[in-house]
Amino acid sequence: MKFFVDTADVPAIAELHALGMVDGVTTNPSLILKSGRDILEVTREICALVPGPVSAEVVATEADAMIAEGRKLAAIAENITVKVPLTWDGLKACKVLSGEGRMVNVTLCFSANQAILAAKAGATFISPFVGRLDDINMDGMELISDIRTIYDNYGYSTQILAASIRTANHITQCALIGADVVTAPPAVIKAMISHPLTDKGLEQFMKDWAKTGQKIL
Ligand code: E4P
Repeated sequence: MKFFVDTADVPAIAELHALGMVDGVTTNPSLILKSGRDILEVTREICALVPGPVSAEVVATEADAMIAEGRKLAAIAENITVKVPLTWDGLKACKVLSGEGRMVNVTLCFSANQAILAAKAGATFISPFVGRLDDINMDGMELISDIRTIYDNYGYSTQILAASIRTANHITQCALIGADVVTAPPAVIKAMISHPLTDKGLEQFMKDWAKTGQKIL
C-alpha cells in the first residue's frame, strides 16, 4: 500500500520523506489555507521534494474553468495530479484532463456509485472520505471495501486513495481491505508506531542495561 501525506506543510513532508514514508502528497484548499502559503509556490516546492504524485485541487466549479485551472496546476511539475470534485462538471474535467494524459484525483467521494462514475471518466485516483462518513454515523471503511469489490469485479484501473483518515486504525483497516493508497496527516502516520508494550519493554531494557555498568561505545 502506498502512503501519501495529506498536508501542505513542507517541513512535515520532508521529515517523513527522509524516512522513505512518502509515496505522494495530497493537498486541498483547506490545507493550503492552513499552510499560509501561496498555492503555486508551495505546490512547486512539494513537487521538487517528492517524486511521487502530488495532488493539487482546482477551485472552479464549472468544467471549462476547472480544465483551465487543471492545466495551469499540471504545468507546475510532471508529478502533479489534478484534483477535481465529484460533480458532473468535475467528471467532465476529469475526462478531458485524463484524455490529455494528466493524472486526475477525483475527490469528495462518499458513495460506491460516485466511485463507479469516476472510474468511467478515467480517474487515476478516487478519494473516498472515510472520516467524514464516520462523523455522520456511517461506515467509511465499508465504502472502501465496496469500492474495492466493484473495481475488482470489472478490472477498473482507477486506484483507491483512502482519504479523510483520522486514526492509525483506519490505516490498518485500509491495508487489510486492499486500498491502493492511503493519504493521512503526518500526525496519524506517526501514531502508527505507538504501542505501550514497546515503551514498557524499552524502559525495562534500559534499566537492566544500566545495572550491567557496560558501554557499547
Ligand atoms: C483528501 O485528499 C483530503 O485532503 C483529506 O483527506 C480530507 O480529510 P479531512 O476530512 O480530515 O479534512
